[in-house]
Amino acid sequence: MSREFTDRKDPLMKTIVTVVVCLYIASALCMKAGDAKTNWANNCAQCHGPGGKGDTKMGKMLGAMDLTDPKKQASFTDAKAAAAIKDGVKQNGKTTMKAFGGKLTDDEIKALIAYVRTLKK
Ligand code: HEC
Repeated sequence: MSREFTDRKDPLMKTIVTVVVCLYIASALCMKAGDAKTNWANNCAQCHGPGGKGDTKMGKMLGAMDLTDPKKQASFTDAKAAAAIKDGVKQNGKTTMKAFGGKLTDDEIKALIAYVRTLKK
């Protein structure tokens, strides 16, 4: 197939074909890992930041830690993280991270913790 495409003179067509092929491959690759990543982007990134640094406006205001820091990652166990995500986090009597127990399933929470661990630099 490559010969047919590289012989084409029409650069737009080539671009379209490349984009479609890339999207197809990307979506196939994302099927499995996509859930946690999407959940992170939709539920967590506004405070913890897309990369976990916690340097968003909300994250700074609420004091979210830098999850890319190995020392910070070592400061909580998976079980503690699960409890935090499920039941929320309270600091000085104020809810700083809301509970996601009603929104995310146990499996989604587990996948999110695995995802959080990958943010460590
Ligand atoms: C409204 C802001 C906010 C949102 C949204 C939020 N968090 Fe948090 N999160 C915090 C704050 C604040 C803390 C407490 C300070 C810290 O430990 O970083 C925290 C703590 C944590 C911790 C550490 C828990 C511990 O025991 O030390 C983990 C893990 C975590 N969040 C994961 C998540 C995940 C996963 C999501 C999305 C489902 C999420 N957070 C959504 C603000 C938020």
